[in-house]
Amino acid sequence: MSTTVIILAAGKGTRMRSRLPKVLQPLAGRPLLGHVIETAKKLHAENIITIFGHGGELVQQVFTHENIQWVEQTEQLGTGHAVKVSLPVLPQEGLSLILSGDVPCVQQSTLQRLIDASTGTGIGLVTLTLADSTGYGRIVRKDGQIQAIVEHKDATAEQHQIKEINTGIYCVSNAKLHEWLPKLSNNNAQGEYYLTDIVAMALADGLQIASIQPELAFEVEGVNDRIQLAALEREFQHYQAKKLMQQGVHLIDPARFDLRGQLTVGQDVRIDINVIIEGECTFGDNVEIGAGCVIKNTTIAAGTKVQPYSVFDNAIVGENVQIGPFARLRPGAKLANEVHIGNFVEVKNTTVGVGSKANHFTYLGDAEIGSNSNIGAGTITCNYDGANKHKTIIGNNAFVGTNNSLVAPLTIGHGATTGAGSVITHNVADHSLAFERAKQISKENYQRPQKVTK
Ligand code: UD1
Ligand code: MG
Repeated sequence: MSTTVIILAAGKGTRMRSRLPKVLQPLAGRPLLGHVIETAKKLHAENIITIFGHGGELVQQVFTHENIQWVEQTEQLGTGHAVKVSLPVLPQEGLSLILSGDVPCVQQSTLQRLIDASTGTGIGLVTLTLADSTGYGRIVRKDGQIQAIVEHKDATAEQHQIKEINTGIYCVSNAKLHEWLPKLSNNNAQGEYYLTDIVAMALADGLQIASIQPELAFEVEGVNDRIQLAALEREFQHYQAKKLMQQGVHLIDPARFDLRGQLTVGQDVRIDINVIIEGECTFGDNVEIGAGCVIKNTTIAAGTKVQPYSVFDNAIVGENVQIGPFARLRPGAKLANEVHIGNFVEVKNTTVGVGSKANHFTYLGDAEIGSNSNIGAGTITCNYDGANKHKTIIGNNAFVGTNNSLVAPLTIGHGATTGAGSVITHNVADHSLAFERAKQISKENYQRPQKVTK
């Protein structure tokens, strides 16, 4: 049966005290609403309808690349009203999953179970049993069957004791939504149109209300303020860390690991503390990442060791490479197997061939370096003339002396050598030596100036 996903995202999120709409606040580097959309997509939903209100234009801008039907709820008159405004675009058949834009961690498997449970009955919900149910809608049961959802503010003292709560995640027949929602009233303690009132309507129609519980409680946790956001971030990170450890990753301390995206791993990957992984990253077998590294959209092949405090962005790293500490790989850095990139070396839009080394204090920008070449400490590719970028090409088995300025465009041939301290402005032929420096002047028995005492 075809499934529609309706995401309620019109709330203002006042308690975040932010200019950014709540559903755009990031969890693990992605907007809250982005997590919900991603999960909806995994369910192969027929269409995704998002109800927006406050900050709507900004929200739509962030998700322009997604195939979403946006429906505006100009006044926030309650959850029932929010779903009601979607009726003009809601199919007549099939089921709808109703999700909240500020409940980002619900898992595909949980929603699939909800859909399966609701397919026969036409209505189902996700509930949760909590030690402290204060503030939530309570699930009232009789002989095990759901009788009603009573909001905290409408509940009796006896109902306040109920620990089973409504998580705000539902699966309902579209035909029934078309029938029930126009009949909602706002005759309650908050003067709102409650979506939860459809439970009574379902019972009146003789339907049973299906219910499931999530596998993990954090799946249904909502975010209202920054304290809850930070708490959920930790829970989500712990969940991700656990999944990686189950795949065989050695996380030295899962409490000090952050994944803001996707990490694909081989066997025996070891990650030290305070590492941040962003975007899409892949680490091959036996990759080791030292403490404090920040690695974004980067592929690292098997056996490579990254020393602490290295920062990578859009780089491709070969096998058995040694990098860092304090190395920086910027977009377009491509390191072949067995390359060494040492401390305070920055590599941008540069290919480094097999076995080549740049071990200390170097900038390699817009360069192509062959195999088994050595780049001396303090060497800079002068790739920018103030207006345009130029290329430096260095062959195989080249030896660039210490503290060279390589003024691009420039080619240094295979097996060529440059002397320490040179400013190289002309191409260097294969197997030749080039150096450029003033002749040394030596004065014997030189007396340094003496300090004048006043
Ligand atoms: C709702 C449920 C409650 C449940 C709780 C779980 C109702 C009446 N109550 O209460 O049973 O325990 O969620 O968190 O549904 N929204 C709109 N437009 C509106 C109102 C809300 O888009 O006019 C959106 C909000 O942005 C939010 C979601 O709907 O994403 C839930 O709204 P919220 O005000 O948090 O509902 P609660 O009162 O917490
Ligand atoms: Mg709420």
